[in-house]
Amino acid sequence: MSDYQPRPEDKFTFGLWTVGNPGRDPFGEPTRPRLEPTYIVERLAALGAWGVNLHDNDLVPLDATARERDAIVREFKQALDDHGLVVPMATTNLFSDPVFKDGAFTSADARVRAYALQKTLDAIDLGVELGATTYVFWGGREGAEVDGGGNALAGLAHFREALNFLCAYVRDQGLELRFALEPKPNEPRGDLYLPTVGSMLGFIATLEYPEMVGLNPEFAHETMAGLSFVHAVAQAIDAGKLFHIDLNDQKMSRFDQDLRFGAENLKAAFFLVRLLESSGYAGPRHFDAHALRTEDEEGVWAFASGCMRTYLILKERAARFDADPEIGAALEAYRVEDAELAALTGSYSRESLEALRGREFDRIALGRRGPGLERLDQLTVELLLGLR
Ligand code: GCO
Ligand code: MN
Ligand code: MN
Repeated sequence: MSDYQPRPEDKFTFGLWTVGNPGRDPFGEPTRPRLEPTYIVERLAALGAWGVNLHDNDLVPLDATARERDAIVREFKQALDDHGLVVPMATTNLFSDPVFKDGAFTSADARVRAYALQKTLDAIDLGVELGATTYVFWGGREGAEVDGGGNALAGLAHFREALNFLCAYVRDQGLELRFALEPKPNEPRGDLYLPTVGSMLGFIATLEYPEMVGLNPEFAHETMAGLSFVHAVAQAIDAGKLFHIDLNDQKMSRFDQDLRFGAENLKAAFFLVRLLESSGYAGPRHFDAHALRTEDEEGVWAFASGCMRTYLILKERAARFDADPEIGAALEAYRVEDAELAALTGSYSRESLEALRGREFDRIALGRRGPGLERLDQLTVELLLGLR
């Protein structure tokens, strides 16, 4: 582990669309040639990644015939076998084609909604054929610029209907597949529906099969909204809904930058890795990011290994944090536990109610006490800077 060399058991994954990103942005043409999916598989495996994820059309062009599709899938599967890579997650492109310009599952046009459902059924079959057990829903076009259409409410009902249909399909076919919803506050739409982890969690509770549906939170997306990604992931874990995760980095309140993991918010990345590693999360560590538009292909692979290496370094730093005696002492002083009080407040009874009411607290002394967080945070910074 001390060489920070990624291994399959680290469960690092990349999307075909991430390392395959040709460097196009809204203002400029691609700066790199397209990479073949089979070549991406070969290179990712050589770097020590565990798996590769895809949208249906990252692999199979939208207008491919059934024969062409089968040939492409056969060749891709062969590459996976040859290089020992898995496909743990798959998803649908419901955003590139003009048909989805005003939404897919939430479109105000019933024909577009039905087509989105049909396309997703095919994409689920493709994902399952490749071995995926998690299916992601990122609603890139599920939002609005104009609220006059009244779709903010109707769109939720349509989205619910689509997910209920697809859950029923998975059950009916006996597939081993869970759904992971990926919130984003905006971009490409002015406002996207269900913009945060918290709003997705609320929505999942309204579904017909809520146990089949969880979250795919993304570092950049909560950060764009000015929210703490670590807190959002903690809430997803607490709800038993962390089904997948999109790791990258991002400056607050900007367009979606998809920066290399740890490139911008090192401390947040550290606490995220520590949270993931201590939570029992056993799913993929998926990097949904891409190399800067300035880079050539060599820069792409430097980006990919950088994501994994930074994760492993932070994982090692997290273990150091937990083993550091001074940090341990600071934490022990910070967290005050009291068995007698726990018995009173842990659960309600007439007796605990009376006992709690009868307790006296030294409010002034409690308010005066310093928890030592400045020191704890400085210790964390020094640990991250390699001094501990
Ligand atoms: C984005 C999203 C996408 C999704 C992908 C998988 O901001 O473009 O993060 O990269 O994660 O479509 O569903
Ligand atoms: Mn994103
Ligand atoms: Mn994403």
